[in-house]
Amino acid sequence: MPHTFFDEAAATWDDDPTKLARSRLIADAIARAVPLDGVRDALEYGCGTGQVTWALADRLDRVVLADASPGMLAVLGERLQARPEHDRARFEPRLLDLTRDSLPPASVDLIYTSLALHHVPDVPLVLRRFRAALRPGGHVAIADLDRDVHGHFHRHSHGDDFDGHHGFDRDALAADLAAAGFAPPAFETVTTLTKIVDDEEMEFPVFLAVAQAAGTV
Ligand SMILES: C[S@@+](CC[C@H](N)C(=O)[O-])C[C@H]1O[C@@H](n2cnc3c(N)ncnc32)[C@H](O)[C@@H]1O
Repeated sequence: MPHTFFDEAAATWDDDPTKLARSRLIADAIARAVPLDGVRDALEYGCGTGQVTWALADRLDRVVLADASPGMLAVLGERLQARPEHDRARFEPRLLDLTRDSLPPASVDLIYTSLALHHVPDVPLVLRRFRAALRPGGHVAIADLDRDVHGHFHRHSHGDDFDGHHGFDRDALAADLAAAGFAPPAFETVTTLTKIVDDEEMEFPVFLAVAQAAGTV
């Protein structure tokens, strides 16, 4: 696997207090929107260093932390080692790219993902793989950027390497979720990120979309 932007960024990812703050807001929004009492097995997709999972850790039972970046998973491993020994077995780091790999069918109750899906080229494929991995009644919770028409958010990050999506149109994502076999999602705005782009402070809303596997509601 080639060395990526995220492998490079991993070592200092958790040094940015704005990232930690947004992860906590996203975790709290997931906890409000999803009945976590019924979740035995969860999977975070595109987990990075695991910020959202660590914020949810006391409210979840078992979590697979999945990411395509070995560098991110290395830092995640350090965070895991810092947890109390009796607690570590609940968390399983996994190198995973659902554009190539799949998950065991009907194996998890909740899949959540934070600011990762816009980096995935084939979103409909990954949503279908999420759906296939969910047990009856399972939920997907997607936190990501709203549509950024002019691509400002990634303009000066990732060098010339950014080849993802400039955020998501909520209606288009709802249609992709429906096509993948999910009931209509509930959207809320969780936070707004700010960035200086070309000397101008710009705002980028982040939504949380929560949808249940269809046919089980
Ligand atoms: C912007 S970071 C977000 C990390 C973390 N979720 C957070 O909120 O701090 C995007 C993450 O998605 C991961 N990623 C990108 N493409 C991926 C793919 N196809 N499969 C799995 N993970 C991917 C990256 O390695 C990176 O860790």
